[in-house]
Amino acid sequence: MRIGHISDLHVLHLEDVNPLDFASKRLVGGINLLRHRADAHSVEVARHALARLSELDVDHICISGDMTNLALPSEFRAASKLVAEIPDAETRVSVVPGNHDYYTRGAARERRFEQHFQPYLHSDLPAYQESTGYPFVHFREDVAIIGINSGVPTPPLMAWGKVAENELRALDALLSDPKLKDCFKVFMIHHPLLPFQYAKVQESRHLVNATDVLKILREHQVDLAIHGHNHHFSVNKLPHLNGSGDLYICEAGSTSNRANSLPEFAGSFNIFEIEDRELVSIETHIYDGFEDTFVHWKEEVFRRVLV
Ligand SMILES: [Fe+2]
Ligand SMILES: [Fe+2]
Repeated sequence: MRIGHISDLHVLHLEDVNPLDFASKRLVGGINLLRHRADAHSVEVARHALARLSELDVDHICISGDMTNLALPSEFRAASKLVAEIPDAETRVSVVPGNHDYYTRGAARERRFEQHFQPYLHSDLPAYQESTGYPFVHFREDVAIIGINSGVPTPPLMAWGKVAENELRALDALLSDPKLKDCFKVFMIHHPLLPFQYAKVQESRHLVNATDVLKILREHQVDLAIHGHNHHFSVNKLPHLNGSGDLYICEAGSTSNRANSLPEFAGSFNIFEIEDRELVSIETHIYDGFEDTFVHWKEEVFRRVLV
């Protein structure tokens, strides 16, 4: 089974936007957007990534949030249109929201993300979903993909996240279900689970209850956690608390980033090869702005030693 991981598409689409929408936080975000983001993220780069993932025979695609910039309806329409272009998207895509998808209280209250991405948010074990729809699980062969929300509206220039307490308890219960026992378990969240080495102020953009989330994942021997938010490639691992395996923690970077930069900060996606419920390899592709295409950057091959 080959799982592609893309993230932080930050689809920009400002048509039909009333200037009055740019009030309060949106004004701050809008200025920031125009300064830093407008040239950085490209829907066409994201389309290149999806085309390359198709050529590379990926079975399933996980998208770890920040589909939009300002959580505007026009951005959600453009982002959901892009995802719907993936062949058989309704059975081949899992997606969770990021902080930019919950950018304003209005967007969170109207559940704009959930409305636009509803086809990819159903759960194969709905008994564990809270009224928000999280956590959900998608069973694909012997792989279980679990998604949760960490997006919350924050004050201007803040970007922290939090998993709601009731969703955390539901996650604990879901991971205890016997149906997951013999699955390779993939957990998807937007915010990082570990401190980011380049963050100037960790507290303004971290996952507030990362320690609690990590404890649950390690107790239940989750195999792989994937996230976004830092716009930076990374692979880390922590040992399980009750077993002999490891929890791999991986970020793909911002897939739509078209700026030529250090590979770790470039537009990128990861492919996880999973065989017999083990992580076999992580393959990373990055965007080459000169060639206007994604190129193979590196591959790590793992063979878990069974004790
Ligand atoms: Fe982002
Ligand atoms: Fe983010």
